Amino acid sequence: MNGAGECGLIVCPYHKWSFADTGRLVQAPWFGRDPAIIPEDWPLEPVHLAEWRGLLFAAVDPQTSLIEQLGDLPAELADEPLETYLPTDQATVSFDANWKVYTDNFVEGYHIPGTHPSFYAAIDFESFETTAHSGFVRMTAPPKEGLFYRGKWLWMWPNWTLSLFDGGMNVSRIDPVSVDRTDQHYTFFFADTSEAAATARARSVNGTLAVVREDYEVCVSTHRNYQAGGYSPGPLSGRHEKGVQYFQSRVSSALGL
Ligand SMILES: [Fe+2]
Repeated sequence: MNGAGECGLIVCPYHKWSFADTGRLVQAPWFGRDPAIIPEDWPLEPVHLAEWRGLLFAAVDPQTSLIEQLGDLPAELADEPLETYLPTDQATVSFDANWKVYTDNFVEGYHIPGTHPSFYAAIDFESFETTAHSGFVRMTAPPKEGLFYRGKWLWMWPNWTLSLFDGGMNVSRIDPVSVDRTDQHYTFFFADTSEAAATARARSVNGTLAVVREDYEVCVSTHRNYQAGGYSPGPLSGRHEKGVQYFQSRVSSALGL
């Protein structure tokens, strides 16, 4: 799987400068001697890295510690055996909408009947619940027989998600590429990585991607409609859109509004 395994040196693909995993410059090939390169002068820029239950989080300029940022999430997933799930699949999907348009969409289930007819048919939508907590939004619904989702979807401030399957999960990072372009990087994890379970795993992977493709379509047209300039905010559903309210209030306070 791309990104997995070990590498002895970090080599920049541009001019082939190589660095140790400490960030120290090891070699600057074909550079010449004028001026001489002093390795200590040219380390990689440091990036803050923190780990929580096997997941790695990188931050260029963190404002808080990871554990503070995660808020009540560790308690929410205390009984979930995350460490037994191994990464098996990755997918990156891109779409022409702002990352906040997509996040507004992810943190509510209100759009499921209109946007995801098959998904709607596979859950007890009348029992769909959305609650906002410190650091995350939780959505739950009892799945009907045969759905690949287990019925719990989580979104964490500022830009990652975790959804449960039977015996696994997916994690995604919502990556703002530009004001009108977003990449979503998915990693899928399963406890059973055997060949015998490959079909079941593929069903969860493909099922997830089919649902989010329906979301991208509405997000692209929502983004376009915002840009048209005719939009003014409307009311949020107290039952279904507490997550939207939470996300938007976190964005506002991060921006000092
Ligand atoms: Fe959706």
